[in-house]
Amino acid sequence: MRHLISITDLSVQDIDELLRVGEDIINHPVKYAHAAEGKKLATLFFEPSTRTRLSFEAAMYELGGHVIGFSSANSSSAAKGESVSDTISMAGCYVDIVAMRHPLEGAPLAGIRRAAVPVINAGDGGHQHPTQTLTDLLTLKCEKGRLDHLTIGLCGDLKFGRTVHSLIEAMSRYEGVEFVLISPKELRVPAHILKELDKKHIPYREVESLEDEIGQLDALYMTRIQRERFFDENEYLRLKDSYVLDCAKMALAKEDMIVMHPLPRVNEISTDVDDDPRACYFKQAWYGKIIRMALILKLLSAQKEEYVPGVQDERIEGTYQCHNPRCITQVEQGIKHVFLKSADGEIRCMYCEHGLEK
Ligand code: CP
Repeated sequence: MRHLISITDLSVQDIDELLRVGEDIINHPVKYAHAAEGKKLATLFFEPSTRTRLSFEAAMYELGGHVIGFSSANSSSAAKGESVSDTISMAGCYVDIVAMRHPLEGAPLAGIRRAAVPVINAGDGGHQHPTQTLTDLLTLKCEKGRLDHLTIGLCGDLKFGRTVHSLIEAMSRYEGVEFVLISPKELRVPAHILKELDKKHIPYREVESLEDEIGQLDALYMTRIQRERFFDENEYLRLKDSYVLDCAKMALAKEDMIVMHPLPRVNEISTDVDDDPRACYFKQAWYGKIIRMALILKLLSAQKEEYVPGVQDERIEGTYQCHNPRCITQVEQGIKHVFLKSADGEIRCMYCEHGLEK
């Protein structure tokens, strides 16, 4: 593995290894205090962040390394029209590894074209957020003791919530996992993800009531309704309070269910729940720093070889154009339009994974 663009870039063995190193860091932090000495990380954040950027930076410092970067597109030459690919290419002159966040889907994949150093996708639009998924996996492993045979409820904005998409992809590789997808019908999980679940015969059900389902769950993954991804503000206002987890609903849950949330929360978890021992979301953010330490170490030691994506579908170049307005190919010039054709004939944009419009 050279870059981490999608959670599918990681095999189950890669994930198990990262989790093992993460657990070792928790148990023996001193052992890692100089592990990245002399190395530099660039955090290139074209979109706001609290946890992801700060935890990457804290992770690098705890490994004995250094950090440079920017926290908004306006404070970089992106504001003057520099492409993502050129920005990443430049960062490679100054640092050993890059973590980047961008509002456009597929931006990290487009950006690695000329990257001289490993690049980590720290969130691209509503598409993927693989390091949040690694955070979620370490949280589940440490708090539930396993990643298999779990019933996981995902609740809220399952359409635009990129952490949901990456988590479903990752957890569907473990035996005995079942998903309960709780959302308003307007914010259901995208069809291409459900199709994958169907193909792998992973059990899931799409429901609207949290109260009816909470008692069955081993873990409840709450999400924020993603205002910034809506095209219609009125639609956001109508849906924003669809779910609020409060103490009354927690009373219906199992005693050992854990509540997770990638954060930030708006009002989908009442602050009263924070004192419930099953509330795990602040500790989850701490696990985020640990797993990013493990990931930085893994990528710093990776060989310089061509990036090979985890999914190996047939490539179609120059025939189609992506119509997703949030795809990087719609906004930046000079990106080769590439589509992928899966074994069952489905064609989707290589960058944002939106299906081809007929
Ligand atoms: N979970 C997460 O990505 O949080 P930030 O947006 O604050 O980085």
